[in-house]
Amino acid sequence: MTTPIDATKTAAWARLGQLHDELEVDFRAWFANDERAKNFTFTAGDLYVDLSKSFLTDDIKAALLELADQVNLLERREAMLSGQRINVTENRAVLHTALRREKGEEVLVDRHNVVDDVREVLTRLYAFAEKVRSGEWTGITGKPMKTIVNVGIGGSDLGPVMAYEALKPFVAEGIECRFISNIDPTDVGETLKGLDPETTLVIVASKTFTTLETLTNARQVRSWLLSALEAQGAPTDGAVAKHFVAVSTALDKVEAFGIDPDNAFGFWDWVGGRYSVDSAVGLSLAIAVGKDGFEDFLAGFRTMDRHFAQAPAEENVPLLMGLLNVFYVNFAGAATHAVLPYSQYLHRFPAYLQQLTMESNGKRVRWDGTPVTSATGEVFWGEPGTNGQHAFYQLIHQGTQLIPADFIAFANPTYAFKDGESDQHELFLGNFFGQTKALAFGKTADEVRAEGVAEELVSAKVFPGNKPTASIMAPALTPSVLGQLIALYEHITFVQGIVWGIDSFDQWGVELGKAMAKALTSAVEGDREAIAAQDSSTRGLIEYYLANRK
Ligand code: F6P
Repeated sequence: MTTPIDATKTAAWARLGQLHDELEVDFRAWFANDERAKNFTFTAGDLYVDLSKSFLTDDIKAALLELADQVNLLERREAMLSGQRINVTENRAVLHTALRREKGEEVLVDRHNVVDDVREVLTRLYAFAEKVRSGEWTGITGKPMKTIVNVGIGGSDLGPVMAYEALKPFVAEGIECRFISNIDPTDVGETLKGLDPETTLVIVASKTFTTLETLTNARQVRSWLLSALEAQGAPTDGAVAKHFVAVSTALDKVEAFGIDPDNAFGFWDWVGGRYSVDSAVGLSLAIAVGKDGFEDFLAGFRTMDRHFAQAPAEENVPLLMGLLNVFYVNFAGAATHAVLPYSQYLHRFPAYLQQLTMESNGKRVRWDGTPVTSATGEVFWGEPGTNGQHAFYQLIHQGTQLIPADFIAFANPTYAFKDGESDQHELFLGNFFGQTKALAFGKTADEVRAEGVAEELVSAKVFPGNKPTASIMAPALTPSVLGQLIALYEHITFVQGIVWGIDSFDQWGVELGKAMAKALTSAVEGDREAIAAQDSSTRGLIEYYLANRK
């Protein structure tokens, strides 16, 4: 095991501390010299990434790149891309990038080329997706499938639902995907409402095939399917094989559940759940957008992977954005980071990123088990603009916390609506451009006064400005562009994790809650002895539940 380098002991860290102490962010002055946008705008694939309204200066950028050097970041990048077991606490390789390698490429794990395995599963997956799309795949009563219900949680849900929502314009007519994740019975109850069992295909997606939520919901959906078919006078024998398929790394467990192994699509322990949307976990998306759409999606990831692997450090967008986030967290004291897509299609993107970033980098020990030496893992959050503008932007503009924000927008809309003479997309983009401008340049007291505002209201109407943002634009939200965006954030997350010396690919912090939920079963069911054994708070809560449950 390579010992993590303590970033805080490097010369670059000390230099960054000094640069932060001396830093006087003044975007008005910084932009007086018009070179800034040119110097701090980069391209990566189809993405145009403007970091000029960030805290980057030439000196900070140089010191951040020195930091990358001093923590051997590029060596760690190579270790990941070449399949070394950098997920130390689970003793696994980390090869989500192998999921999008092209046929004929080679990535070896234990001297075996995993790209061949990836391509083999994709071939089966596309063949199956095509059968569903064309109507060749029929249910037990001979009808083609219309609704795809994905049952999964975490990485087996957030990626598929986010990508399906994002790529709605590319979804084949007549196909609808629905998603069940929460063990709250409401989720399964509401999602199945109105569905015709004869035309419903269920995908049970679970890397481990042991997840309580997914298996419970899958059993509920199976019962619903069988009883609904029966109620319609349809045969039920053999119905599960026709209406259920699975995606998992545990194919033996899939079979034990009753799903035909021929209808199971595998992936591998070197793909983390939150990095798996471009594996067979994306089956619902592959059915929705077809082979061409899914291949385009993979090509987008690949474009960003190549950029991350090959672009010079000074222009390497994931590297720069990851390092900049380290600067915000460890030097500027930011505890959160907003991601604000100006695209309603990306409304689940912030939720997807929450698992990607926070399950990866919410860690307090390093990969060798020693305590971290600095803050890690900021809170990622967000909502699409312009909705967020009318909700929480107030705090970003005038609150007391520093909240770096990534703004994402696309030049071309799906709907070319006019509002009188105005183009609605232009009204929308005016907000996108306007917000980062307002955050950067603010409004001074004198400017407020010049508008004739009464003196006692001036301070309330001042915008301090100097709030850091990144603006990311692309021509349009296509499968490829979505793949590029996801891979961008995957690599940003990796960069931050390496600087902090943590294993960004395990998730031990989710285990205790799962164990406690299980251990509380008999108490929740009313076992007096089990209730008496609880702490007073938990006991009180369970008693309240038992007294109020009708
Ligand atoms: O509990 C966390 C977690 O393990 C995530 O990392 C994962 O994406 C999710 O649960 C679902 O796991 P699975 O795909 O094995 O059902």
